[in-house]
Amino acid sequence: MEIFKEYGIEFFARYAHVISGITWIGLLYYFNFVQVPAFAEMEAAARNNAIDKLASRALWWFRWGAVATVVTGLLILGLQRTADGSSQLSSMDYFKSLPGISIATGVLLALTMFVNVWGIIWRNQKIVIANARNVQAGGEADPAAAEAGRRALLASRQNTIFSLPMLVFMVGTSHFPYDVPNATGSHRAIYWLIMLVVWILFELNALGVIGGLKPGGTNIIYDTHKNTLITGFAYAALVIIIYAVVLA
Ligand code: HEM
Repeated sequence: MEIFKEYGIEFFARYAHVISGITWIGLLYYFNFVQVPAFAEMEAAARNNAIDKLASRALWWFRWGAVATVVTGLLILGLQRTADGSSQLSSMDYFKSLPGISIATGVLLALTMFVNVWGIIWRNQKIVIANARNVQAGGEADPAAAEAGRRALLASRQNTIFSLPMLVFMVGTSHFPYDVPNATGSHRAIYWLIMLVVWILFELNALGVIGGLKPGGTNIIYDTHKNTLITGFAYAALVIIIYAVVLA
C-alpha cells in the first residue's frame, strides 16, 4: 500500500501524461504522414468533406491532448521532490542539475510545440475548416484558405521535427546515466546558447520569417515528410551529442 500513499498522485499524473502525450503526438504524426499526403491526392469535394467530418474531429483530440499533456507534465514537475524536499518546479538547483537541464530542454521544445498548436495550427485550421464547410454548402471559396493551410503545415512539420529531440529528454531524464559531476556554470551557458540558437532558428523558419512560405530554400525540411523526419532525427542526434559532450 505504501506505493499508493507515497506515489499515488504522481503516478496518476505520469500515466495521464504519457497517455495524453501519445494522443497529441500520435495525431501529429497521423496529420503529417497520413492525412497531408492523402488529401493531396483527393478530389476537392471529397477533401472538403474529409476536412469537415474527419480533420475537424482529429484536431479536437489533438489540441486538447496538447493541453492535457502540458498540464500533467507541469503537475509531475510540481509533485516530484528534490533531495532537500522542495518541489522540482520551484528549485533552481534542480534546473542546474543534469536531470533538470534535460527536462528543461524537453519542456522548452514541448511548450514551443504547444504554442504552435494553439497559436498557428489551430488558428489557421479554423479558416481552412470554415472554408471547406462554406464551399460544401455552395458558398464562395475563401482566398485566404490556401495561405492559412500552408502556415499550419509549416508549423505542423516543425512540430514533428521538435517532437523527436523532445522525446529524447522526456524519456532520458529518468534514464540517462548520471555518473558524472554536475556541469559548471560556463558549460551550462555554452549548452543553453547552442540549444537556444538552434531552437529559435527552427521556430523562425517555421513561422516563415527566414524562408518565407514557399517550398525550397530553408523550407526544404518541410517539403516532404521524409525530409522532415530526416531533419528531426538529425536534430535529435545533435542534441544528444551536445548534451553528452558539453555537459556530461
Ligand atoms: C510542456 C510540456 C511538458 C512538460 C512540462 C513535461 C514534463 C515532464 C516531466 C516532469 C517528466 C518526468 C521526467 C522525469 O523522469 O523526472 C516527463 C516525462 C515524460 N514525458 Fe513529458 N512533459 C511535457 C510534454 C511532453 C510531451 C509532448 C510528450 C509526448 C509524448 C511527453 C512525454 C513524456 C514521456 C514519455 C515521459 C517519460 C515518463 C517516464 O519515464 O516515466 N511529455 N515529462
